[in-house]
Amino acid sequence: MAKNILITGGNSGIGYATAVLAKSRNYDVTICGRDTERVASAAEKLGVRSVVADMSDPGQIKALAAYFNNDGLDGLVNNAAMAKFMSIKDHTLDDFDDFFNVNVRGPLLLIQALIPALAKRKGSISNISSAITNNGLPNASLYAASKGAVDSFSRSLAVELAADGIRVNCISPGAIDTPIITKLGLSPEQIGEIKAHHEASIPLRRYGLADEVAHVILSQLEASYVTGSVWSVDGGVDAQ
Ligand SMILES: NC(=O)c1ccc[n+]([C@@H]2O[C@H](COP(=O)([O-])OP(=O)(O)OC[C@H]3O[C@@H](n4cnc5c(N)ncnc54)[C@H](OP(=O)(O)O)[C@@H]3O)[C@@H](O)[C@H]2O)c1
Repeated sequence: MAKNILITGGNSGIGYATAVLAKSRNYDVTICGRDTERVASAAEKLGVRSVVADMSDPGQIKALAAYFNNDGLDGLVNNAAMAKFMSIKDHTLDDFDDFFNVNVRGPLLLIQALIPALAKRKGSISNISSAITNNGLPNASLYAASKGAVDSFSRSLAVELAADGIRVNCISPGAIDTPIITKLGLSPEQIGEIKAHHEASIPLRRYGLADEVAHVILSQLEASYVTGSVWSVDGGVDAQ
């Protein structure tokens, strides 16, 4: 039987690249995303199954997990996340809720709902956090806090779910060239400045590619004696 994998936010960037690679390795791939058209069009291009599920919606997360009740699940990539740059001076209560509902509560609820399916196949989870958790960036405190939570809950779940045969790890990408940068609420000039600043401060002096992260995600999912770890994919940023 082919191994199966669920990738949240699989219609774009790192999630899409992971779906491409997993498909090429004969995984049975399901992607999910929040927008019906974007998810369906990505799934058609990829030739994989798609499910629409907004990670801020507990009901949709439960329905997504139910697809795997019977057959079980080998791999879960908790990749979907929101990112927006904003000063703490402008944070509203809704902003706190939005960041934590999508980036923290969503993946936790999905893992909770998938425990029986993952236990059935001794499955493995890769949660996508961010190099930002160790590297301060102005106007990114809510995003950084939500990603720090992902690192933290992953370590605890690794210990807790080991008894069910489920491994839990994190991937911590640095600056990766994906559409996320266009969703931050920045002008093209600001994006240019950020990219130039990043490239100068990355030891490898370039942005990473989504495909380079995808290779590490699949290696992590398949690394049978690895749990509770955070793997940096950041061109050397964390080592500085
Ligand atoms: N690129 C980087 O430099 C970088 C660095 C560190 C960490 N990361 C992390 O890597 C992961 C992938 O990011 P990416 O760079 O590939 O960005 P991306 O291309 O924007 O992909 C993010 C995906 O998440 C989906 N998504 C957002 N909110 C959602 C929600 N409420 N429910 C379901 N899906 C939702 C997006 O859907 P839409 O297409 O509808 O927006 C998209 O498919 C994220 O966890 C991000 O925080 C990225």
